[in-house]
Amino acid sequence: MADKVLITMEDLEAAVRANAAFEGAGYRTTMVSALDDLRSAIRRADPDLILLSGGLREAGLARGLADVATTHTATLGLAEGTDTDPADLAHRLGLSGVLLKPASADEVVAVGRRLIERRKLQVRTGILGEHPGIQEVLIKIEQMAPVSSTVLVQGESGTGKELVAKAIHDLSPRRGKPFIAVNCAAIPESLLESELFGHEKGSFTGAAERRLGMFELADGGTIFLDEIGEMALPTQVKVLRVLEEREFFRVGGTAPIKVDVRVVAATNRSLREAMETGHVRADLYYRLNVLSIYLPPLRERKSDVPLLVRHFSREFARLHDRPFHGINPEAMRLLMEAPWPGNVRQLRNLVESMVVLAPEGEIRASDIPREIREAGRRNLPVLVPGAVQTIQGQELQYIVQSLLDLRLQVEDLRRRLDDVPQRVEVIDVGHRGASGGSGGEVFVGRVQTPGTPATGSPLRDFTPMYDAEPRPAEVVVYEQGMKMADVERAAIAAALRASRGNRRKAAETLGIGERTLYRKLKEYHLDEDAGS
Ligand SMILES: Nc1ncnc2c1ncn2[C@@H]1O[C@H](COP(=O)(O)OP(=O)(O)OP(=O)(O)O)[C@@H](O)[C@H]1O
Ligand SMILES: [Mg+2]
Repeated sequence: MADKVLITMEDLEAAVRANAAFEGAGYRTTMVSALDDLRSAIRRADPDLILLSGGLREAGLARGLADVATTHTATLGLAEGTDTDPADLAHRLGLSGVLLKPASADEVVAVGRRLIERRKLQVRTGILGEHPGIQEVLIKIEQMAPVSSTVLVQGESGTGKELVAKAIHDLSPRRGKPFIAVNCAAIPESLLESELFGHEKGSFTGAAERRLGMFELADGGTIFLDEIGEMALPTQVKVLRVLEEREFFRVGGTAPIKVDVRVVAATNRSLREAMETGHVRADLYYRLNVLSIYLPPLRERKSDVPLLVRHFSREFARLHDRPFHGINPEAMRLLMEAPWPGNVRQLRNLVESMVVLAPEGEIRASDIPREIREAGRRNLPVLVPGAVQTIQGQELQYIVQSLLDLRLQVEDLRRRLDDVPQRVEVIDVGHRGASGGSGGEVFVGRVQTPGTPATGSPLRDFTPMYDAEPRPAEVVVYEQGMKMADVERAAIAAALRASRGNRRKAAETLGIGERTLYRKLKEYHLDEDAGS
């Protein structure tokens, strides 16, 4: 089906010329008198591109556009020839592109076509943003995807490194083959080699069977080595060998194994610094750094905040089946000012909680946690006695900010719980005992989501449930004869279910480190079916 273009008529002559050119190029076009009609026109036409033929400096345009912009619609503005800084104007309006008048009709169509294609790429990869930094990332992904070279993705935590790695795979000829992500920081050093390269039967205590490693499992596809800077030096030598020779040995093996695997590596610290301080081998650094992609932190592309907020709020309103009517301008301004040390992940999580908690489905300034509101105005450094020497700068700010966020969210949740008629869930363990064939004492505890107080009482557990709670709490049941290990295994499995397989969240829920969780997953053989 032909792509659709909506053209505003602020500049009638330019609009009519563009209309004819787009039609001639096979697009379906609609003209609207001005921005006022845009909202209903968008609903009717659902365009792939909106062309603003003029009026870019008119007051209220940014607001009007913010109201109507959708993730899959590109926007192109025609600026007056006298405009001195059209790029800045486009940036402030959140436009996908801008052209100076008089632009030829062919040029308008060519740029429009490119913007539409870029938008489709964004929908396909889930990488959103109009900021030049993100556009550059998308261009690089398109260029790098078709070849097999190693790619290094760098950016702070939560900036979308895994999304980029997945996009490279999905747009490459390898897309039908496996994409395997390995978090090098989360797997204990002693296990990482056998995890990556597999092992032969009997090669070490506990190696009862031959096991294939990730490189073998990813054959024909892509392996994503996350947090590569945390990898131990001896393992780095072996990874370098695979990159250079395309072959390796299983742990305890003597025959070289050949694989065709593309490597995408990521790090949230500067890999160059890690090399300079001796944590990463120089030869590996230079081998990895052939093609690289840098993801800018969210605070450096604040103009993308409205687009992301709207996208995430629609996503979560649908997921949690909550009414959602939008976010008011004051609230949006506060979100744009916040420093976002946890980047897009932090913003996404906040939007989820606001969509669930916002009364009457509208996000107002007062719904934004105080710390987020104030952080934008304040320039933290925060002093934590005793911690300053070892943790500094952004890292410290991030930790403190996260703790404050968590506390505020808990407070907020409590306050709202008080206002909501409570539903009490009773778990009658007697029935369960009967069907399970054991009549002994039973203890019911709940796996809590982070921040909620722990509960758990013998025989019965009365936990008020907030109706808007998206997922029911997971229940772990103790029955007579169970060993501590059985209880632990059940708790881990429940936490993983509650976090939908997200190991980081599960570890957080259980109050243990991610490394410990990975060890236990292996120990209890839960890692075979749990995703990460
Ligand atoms: N540009 C973006 N558009 C939409 N969603 C994004 C974007 N960047 C990140 N996200 C979302 O933010 C979350 C974090 O992204 P991702 O896991 O890729 O980050 P990361 O850089 O790998 O973080 P970490 O270093 O902590 O592993 C995900 O839910 C992802 O979908
Ligand atoms: Mg990641």
